[in-house]
Amino acid sequence: MDMRILTLGDELLRHKAEPVADIDSEMAQTAQLMLDALEEGKGIGLAGPQAGISKRIFVVHVKEDAPRVFINPSIIETSQETVKFEEGCLSIPGIWAEVVRPKTVKIQAWNEKGRPFTLEADGILARVILHEYDHLEGVLFIDRLSEFKQKRILEKIAKKKAKA
Ligand code: NI
Repeated sequence: MDMRILTLGDELLRHKAEPVADIDSEMAQTAQLMLDALEEGKGIGLAGPQAGISKRIFVVHVKEDAPRVFINPSIIETSQETVKFEEGCLSIPGIWAEVVRPKTVKIQAWNEKGRPFTLEADGILARVILHEYDHLEGVLFIDRLSEFKQKRILEKIAKKKAKA
């Protein structure tokens, strides 16, 4: 089964995702399908809502790290220190922009085997975790840009759509 990735404009991307009620074999399979879709899309992170699943799950696979599954995550702590870094999103193809976010994050979640874990991340891993967590809240990276920048991006997308 192939997962269709929802794109900007789809209402589901704007919903707050529901907690996962149980981590059973079906949920483990969903996590695997999401990791497959991530690889196919050449992304580094994918959240449930992007795959049309309004549940609190996201997967992350950054270079030189194992694939990771986060179910019902809670952010425990973020650093005061922030960094600016370029982001993209499988749901907003072709758009990249620099976003300011905390430099580090401490997060607690369950993996696809139903085991709880806590992770402290910085660099690209922290970046992608914070980006994916936002998806569970219905927030997209462009929401974190200035109104001016958002407007320019929406114009760019509209132009691209008109050409297609
Ligand atoms: Ni995204």
